[in-house]
Amino acid sequence: MNHLLSMNELSLNDIQYILNKATDYIKGRKEHRMQDFMVANLFFEPSTRTKFSFEAAEHRLGIKALNVEGSTSSLQKGETLYDTLRTLEEIGVSAFVIRHPQDRYFDGLAEKVNVPIINAGDGCGNHPTQSLLDLLTIQQEFIVLQGLTVVIVGDILHSRVARSNAEVLRKMGAKVLFSGPKEWFVDEWRKDFIPMDEAVKTADVMMMLRIQHERHTKSMLLPKEEYHQKFGLTVEREQNMKSHSIIMHPAPVNRGVELADELVECQRSRIFKQVQNGVYIRMAVLKWALTTNQEAVANGLFT
Ligand code: CP
Repeated sequence: MNHLLSMNELSLNDIQYILNKATDYIKGRKEHRMQDFMVANLFFEPSTRTKFSFEAAEHRLGIKALNVEGSTSSLQKGETLYDTLRTLEEIGVSAFVIRHPQDRYFDGLAEKVNVPIINAGDGCGNHPTQSLLDLLTIQQEFIVLQGLTVVIVGDILHSRVARSNAEVLRKMGAKVLFSGPKEWFVDEWRKDFIPMDEAVKTADVMMMLRIQHERHTKSMLLPKEEYHQKFGLTVEREQNMKSHSIIMHPAPVNRGVELADELVECQRSRIFKQVQNGVYIRMAVLKWALTTNQEAVANGLFT
């Protein structure tokens, strides 16, 4: 079964399939017979981009979407997530899209359910569909990732995007460096630190991250303006970037903190392109997860 839980579990072939399929959708390719599927979207953490781009992707593919609200479902009465998923399976759901605040909420679930789980973000752990849309955005710009330098900047320790992206970018041949406050570094990546003033001169991609206050146990000590000057992508630093280099951010952006307000929609910024690519990537992921499901194939849903 094709769960999508983390980027580690995806082969390079799977990644390429998804990127190619997303590119086909961008070019206008239509899918047939996806209307036989029903997908449950379960979001237990706030989301704008991921939640609504999954809904948009399902709509475009003709898939019926069931949006399960934690606050109005029987989870409120103490039902476990497993029993909720099993119930939805019996109702006829073909896949689950789940965002959850707990790291690896899917451990112990994925092996027990009978339809794919697509991870829409787990705590500080993984955000594979964000990673895939980031790969597509970089590929659109540079064609190949081999030899590129990507600098990931900011609250790395609490970022599921940094974790998901760093490994796959390296697997695909990019050099990945990190910048930001050292107390938010992951131990194994300390050797790959680069100061911001050097990073802007070196990077082909500056991947900026929001400070994940909601995952901090103590509040940030630096005032926002001081953080911006020390660790942020300021207007002055942007002027030292290479002519072809781009700015990415998974968003939401805290304007004026990790990224200058003026740079959010500047000529180098691909932030809203990332959002647009997110719909096509999620269409491709749904196609991948559902159409290679053996049971669905056996039931003749695919030609
Ligand atoms: N990038 C991202 O996951 O955004 P949302 O939290 O709005 O889904």
